[in-house]
Amino acid sequence: MTSDRLRSGGFGLYIHWPFCQAKCPYCDFNSHVWQHIDQSRWTKAYLSELDRVAAETPDRVLNSVFFGGGTPSLMEPETVDQILSRIRANWPIANDFEVTLEANPTSVEAQRFAGYRQAGVNRVSMGFQALNDNDLKALGRLHNVSDALKAYEIAQEVFDRFSFDLIYARQNQTVTDWEKELRQALAMGPTHLSLYQLTIEEGTAFGDRFARGLLRGLPDEEVAAKMYEITQALTVEAGLPAYEISNHARANDVSLHNLIYWRGGDYLGIGPGAHGRVSIGKDRFATDTELAPQVWLQQVETLGSGEKSRDVITKYDQGLEYVMMSLRLAEGCDLDRLAEISSNQVKLNNINKLESLSLISRENSTLRVPTDKRILLNSILAELVA
Ligand SMILES: C[S@@+](CC[C@H](N)C(=O)[O-])C[C@H]1O[C@@H](n2cnc3c(N)ncnc32)[C@H](O)[C@@H]1O
Ligand code: SF4
Repeated sequence: MTSDRLRSGGFGLYIHWPFCQAKCPYCDFNSHVWQHIDQSRWTKAYLSELDRVAAETPDRVLNSVFFGGGTPSLMEPETVDQILSRIRANWPIANDFEVTLEANPTSVEAQRFAGYRQAGVNRVSMGFQALNDNDLKALGRLHNVSDALKAYEIAQEVFDRFSFDLIYARQNQTVTDWEKELRQALAMGPTHLSLYQLTIEEGTAFGDRFARGLLRGLPDEEVAAKMYEITQALTVEAGLPAYEISNHARANDVSLHNLIYWRGGDYLGIGPGAHGRVSIGKDRFATDTELAPQVWLQQVETLGSGEKSRDVITKYDQGLEYVMMSLRLAEGCDLDRLAEISSNQVKLNNINKLESLSLISRENSTLRVPTDKRILLNSILAELVA
């Protein structure tokens, strides 16, 4: 039996909807543009997957569900309703059960918000990306600022909890531009914000343009670091400090689902390309699914499972993963929990050295990376697990 301690990261369910209306040039998520999607066929496949994973985790209390994508706001409310009904039938649900759906802020999608709420969604996360029409165009977005503001208004009317995403360090963006935009975003009174620095991913249109020297005007590292610094200062001032590298919230508005990932909790992943981490009996498994939507769908229909692989995670790797995830968080890494998760197999190095450089802080059994240094997390981790 898995101990309560190991389960204390929580238990969530991620559902991947792999379709979008258009592919954004910076995006390397598993997203595809299809002309026609037979939603009743897809619904059946998701329900079958839910039954499969529920049979393995019958006694677990579910803390959260996250519909991610792709663009889950292209799902019919009826599809979401059927999935959530099956989830409620399959697992005991926590009192503060969180159900988030990622939404693109076009007008058509915002009109579905009431239906999603009816189905049981209680939080939306909207991809605004920029608050300036020229930049939205350059990012290949199908919405403009006015659509985003309208979607925000509708979200405010329909949901108690909502968040939006912005991407900074965009082409030709100055520190002052970003400061102005972020102030504008904060003046809208959000209680949760995800603020990501633009990453140029290989295999995307931006990645190709960048490799050919054609993606001009990207802020250099120093400017991007300054933008990160300003982001921390302004969000703290507005009462939304970072609880994770890119996520900011008022104290009661952190995303419970994302915390499960960063606290090393268990989560099931269903849908094309979704992965999971799940403790069954005395082992913890990493699960992966078929990436291509058509292959996933056919595999679920013919073999009764969309799972592609399932591997036992060694105690050492569990510990390593916990260190890497938890140090993203303001609350940091609980060294007692690390010892238990990894059966004392992960020994961290250079703690004193990193402490003397103010790159980490240690308080009793908690290790933290200070907010202003979290942008250096990869180098810090390299020292810790050297
Ligand atoms: C799963 S994605 C997209 C959700 C939704 N389809 C949308 O585009 O609004 C979640 C978020 O990741 C961020 N993101 C995606 N690609 C990124 C990149 N290359 N650099 C920085 N942020 C990125 C965007 O802010 C996006 O809203
Ligand atoms: S950023 Fe969002 S809308 Fe754009 S392709 Fe990626 S998942 Fe789809």
